[in-house]
Amino acid sequence: MSSQITMNETQTSTNDRINNLKAFDEEKTGVKGLVDAGSTSIPNIFVRPLEDRTKDLSTSPDNISVPIIDFAHVGQNIDQTAEIVKEIMMASKKWGFFQVVNHGIPLEVLENMIEVTRMFHEHDVESKKKLYSRDFQSKRVTYFSSHDLYNSKAADWRDTLYVTTLFTAGEVDPQELPTICKDVIPEYVNHILELGDRILMLLSMGLGLEPNYLGDLECSRGWALACHYYPPCPEPQLTLGTSGHADVSFITILLQDQIGGLQVLHENQWVNIEPISGALIVNIGNALQIISNDMLKSIYHIVIAKSVGPRISIPLFINGYFKSKKIYGPIKELTSVENPPIYREFTIEKLLTYFYSKSLDDLGIDHFKLQPYKDGN
Ligand code: OGA
Ligand code: NI
Repeated sequence: MSSQITMNETQTSTNDRINNLKAFDEEKTGVKGLVDAGSTSIPNIFVRPLEDRTKDLSTSPDNISVPIIDFAHVGQNIDQTAEIVKEIMMASKKWGFFQVVNHGIPLEVLENMIEVTRMFHEHDVESKKKLYSRDFQSKRVTYFSSHDLYNSKAADWRDTLYVTTLFTAGEVDPQELPTICKDVIPEYVNHILELGDRILMLLSMGLGLEPNYLGDLECSRGWALACHYYPPCPEPQLTLGTSGHADVSFITILLQDQIGGLQVLHENQWVNIEPISGALIVNIGNALQIISNDMLKSIYHIVIAKSVGPRISIPLFINGYFKSKKIYGPIKELTSVENPPIYREFTIEKLLTYFYSKSLDDLGIDHFKLQPYKDGN
């Protein structure tokens, strides 16, 4: 009898949760809509289970930080380039993250990108509503809150404008973009993709491959730009801005404003990535960890919720192209009898289908290991 009651209660609370998720989703105004309505507490759908709130994420040691790499002298002479390659390799093996300064992209381009993201999220609710969708496969431009809303244990305190060529390749037509960002986004993406090519070249050299090796894998043919907006949160300790995860990308290049909140798990400690004006944050994603056969690391990271804000951050994921026939896998030159491949081969379609079917905090690289994996293909 008592177990019957428990089951019914569980069922009711699951149904309640789904109804609440739907009600939130149908508003199409995201987390920003809740804040604008004057919420002084957060709705239950955002509250993380107690067992997931085991530590105070806001404390981060201030004596260690993600490596900062100066690109001012990249390509100027062999010795200086070799030194930068060494720094990038150290950072990518030990941290999976680094910040780049003097990358050559004008500060104005970065500032404009942050500004138009803010304007998109803060103005014109009606045009946001029109874009509200999670149909990433057929739409190049969408707006939503938590892409994994219905799969996750708790919704994240974040809204996103998402622009992607993962499924359609080719250029984004500026006319498809919200008017406010139609000039800034294409210019920003071109700069970041160019920087991405330089980073892939330096990583190729660091791995002992031909400089064009990673670039030739066509990873930059498909990309996704997530223009995140994290509104101030009335109960930040109960939720997260972005749940813990590792990116599925080859590499991600991220621009953040001055608020902070992004933390990486380094040697069992959460370390803040301090905002540096004009810097870009680069991280290695799962695809690159797999093809480097674990030489480069895709590291778990999180964004804490804060009572101050909004915070704006804009990652560009270099992911490869969904319809590409290319088969990716541990690079032959990096494996040997003593160092055999750890991962299975994959197509970008497999990689991305897995990503979009899971909750952000449930994405594991282990799924791609050669040795027994649990959840199907
Ligand atoms: C992501 C991510 C971090 C941030 O979108 O994958 O890790 O600072 N974002 O927004
Ligand atoms: Ni991420």
